[in-house]
Amino acid sequence: MDSNEVFLQIPMLPNMELAATETAHRVAEFMQFDPDKIDEIKIAMIEGIINAFEHSQSKDKTVYIKFLMRGDELEVTIQDFGHGFDLDSAKKEPEQLRKRGHGLNLMEGLMDRVDIYATPNGTKVIMVKRRHSSDE
Ligand SMILES: Nc1ncnc2c1ncn2[C@@H]1O[C@H](COP(=O)(O)OP(=O)(O)O)[C@@H](O)[C@H]1O
Ligand SMILES: [Mg+2]
Repeated sequence: MDSNEVFLQIPMLPNMELAATETAHRVAEFMQFDPDKIDEIKIAMIEGIINAFEHSQSKDKTVYIKFLMRGDELEVTIQDFGHGFDLDSAKKEPEQLRKRGHGLNLMEGLMDRVDIYATPNGTKVIMVKRRHSSDE
């Protein structure tokens, strides 16, 4: 099978999420994504990575990122080994009670598919963007 993955690991330090979005840009460009879709991928990734930075409290202070080029789809996995969270209550919490809290919704709006696996051993966000959306 041909090689179709790019791996990155970034330290939880200021602006290091941009090291990941620079890579995303090059990968998506290689896959011939349109510029607007590349921007959507990058914004979704910033939300996911900043969430890991701000909320995970992982001891290794590292975020693990995988890009999987799968035909017309780019799958991006953002993983940390922090304490995780309760996805249902994070989503249910009424927005007017929170000063922020749009990251998870934003990611879902920007990507074609977002799956979140949160456990006490960490959080894995798997998001997929298609080069051609079905509504085009
Ligand atoms: N990687 C993560 N590790 C631990 N908790 C997380 C992670 N990602 C999200 N969360 C939890 O989900 C909540 C909602 O995330 P989000 O919608 O991005 O809002 P915000 O980051 O503004 O609080 C966060 O407040 C946090 O409690
Ligand atoms: Mg957030």
